[in-house]
Amino acid sequence: MRKNIVAGNWKMNKTLQEGIALAKEIKASLSGKTPKCEVIVGTPFIHLASVCEELKDSVIAVAAENCADKPSGAYTGEVSAAMVASTGAKYCIIGHSERRTYYGETYEILRLKVRLALENGLRPIFCIGETKDERQAGRQNDVVQAQLEGSVFDLAADEFGKIVLAYEPVWAIGTGLTATSDQAQEMHAFIRSLITKKYGKELSEDTSILYGGSCNPSNAKELFAKPDVDGGLIGGASLKAGDFVAIIDSF
Ligand code: PGA
Repeated sequence: MRKNIVAGNWKMNKTLQEGIALAKEIKASLSGKTPKCEVIVGTPFIHLASVCEELKDSVIAVAAENCADKPSGAYTGEVSAAMVASTGAKYCIIGHSERRTYYGETYEILRLKVRLALENGLRPIFCIGETKDERQAGRQNDVVQAQLEGSVFDLAADEFGKIVLAYEPVWAIGTGLTATSDQAQEMHAFIRSLITKKYGKELSEDTSILYGGSCNPSNAKELFAKPDVDGGLIGGASLKAGDFVAIIDSF
């Protein structure tokens, strides 16, 4: 049975002290509760070790937002998957559209990152999604299929089984424009059908597919009620403990 997941993506927000304070607040708001989903916070590299320490006795897991496409060595400024894993983080967001667009991350770079994350025991949260122009041209399915084929569909089934997918239409990220729950369901069902074709029904039924893009406390419940939407990857609304916990409570 696949897991429901609510994952925060803090992006490039919060100083170290502010990040620790936010982690503490989320932990306090969830204490004594048993969330009906797995809870993850995705933080900048610099926060990982401290946030992992802060959350070590909680139900909340920690994700990095990226990792290098090289295992180690002379790559000034980069952070490897092994380094991420050594902080206690369990997940790594890979292929976010901001990385693809602003940092030129190609299918091949992302393929390498996914592999390095897996080799180091991290579960990738692999992001896919079309731009506004691509949707207006009716190409969203082709785009998402190419992103999967380009970076993750050559994994062995047991490796693919460790991946969480996040469908994030680029036109909905940070724009306040959410995909309707029907648009999300339609795409998630399409993604699941691709996984079925590639890896079979059992694995596709076990794969968690999150929705991301202006998900907030007022639309989460309707989105998460769709049969193929297994939770959310939350940007802006994960920066306020109250909103993030309200989204978790939507399950
Ligand atoms: P948003 O970002 O919730 O602020 O739209 C989502 C994401 O980029 O993961």
